[in-house]
Amino acid sequence: MLTLKGDERVLDVATGTGRVARPVAKRLNGGRVIGVDQALAMLDVGHQHQEPIPAYDQSAGAADALPFKSNSFDRAFVSFSLHHFGNPSGVVHEVLRVLKNGGRFVVLDPVIEEAKDSVDVALEAKVNRVFRRTHGNDFRFHTASSIQRMLTKAGFRIPRSNVMSYSFNQEGMDGIPTGRHWLEVAEELETEAPELAERMKKTYFTWHRHGDHVHVKGSFSYALITGVKPA
Ligand SMILES: C[S@@+](CC[C@H](N)C(=O)[O-])C[C@H]1O[C@@H](n2cnc3c(N)ncnc32)[C@H](O)[C@@H]1O
Repeated sequence: MLTLKGDERVLDVATGTGRVARPVAKRLNGGRVIGVDQALAMLDVGHQHQEPIPAYDQSAGAADALPFKSNSFDRAFVSFSLHHFGNPSGVVHEVLRVLKNGGRFVVLDPVIEEAKDSVDVALEAKVNRVFRRTHGNDFRFHTASSIQRMLTKAGFRIPRSNVMSYSFNQEGMDGIPTGRHWLEVAEELETEAPELAERMKKTYFTWHRHGDHVHVKGSFSYALITGVKPA
């Protein structure tokens, strides 16, 4: 989706340890990936990585106040981080600023379903509350359309938007990103708010506890959205 030729200057917003930046940097030939993150500890893990990637540079900074000149990147992406930002639309505006005209921005983020009634709204609030206990007060799941709206409002054109589903049917949440927290929500709802538990089962996944084990079956979704800065 980044449509790389190889010589691009690519920004990875909230690069973390460089998990996604590395395979992107490997695709370049003459270009560079510059990863920015506010957590020095995360950058440090990336810096100490056993396989140094010459085309990958790191920079410390906040995603909503990017330490880069305007019109200086050909491509940008943000992976698994938008839901962590306290000021996501500020980040999107900053990405628009640092991209060159015609530059491309790809957002990859886990998304929840669009709320259709008050039960969905209450479920969404509960999910966010539980995730905030471990991920901090800025945490907030977006929907695919709220991400699109945010990009459009900032001035991006959206040529492409996909939602991919990740299905599972297994014992326990091992190997399912953030699955443990989803299960925490589910089990609390069962005693606190059976109506919300039923909606959770219909929308996301079912869970059946037997002894120390719990069988889970359902799916989570990820949005992959491309924005283009108008030429
Ligand atoms: C779940 S990690 C994702 C890292 C990486 N993009 C990946 O896919 O592996 C989220 C990252 O967002 C960073 N982060 C959160 N808020 C930020 C902000 N306002 N500015 C810069 N980085 C931020 C965190 O420090 C963390 O490294």
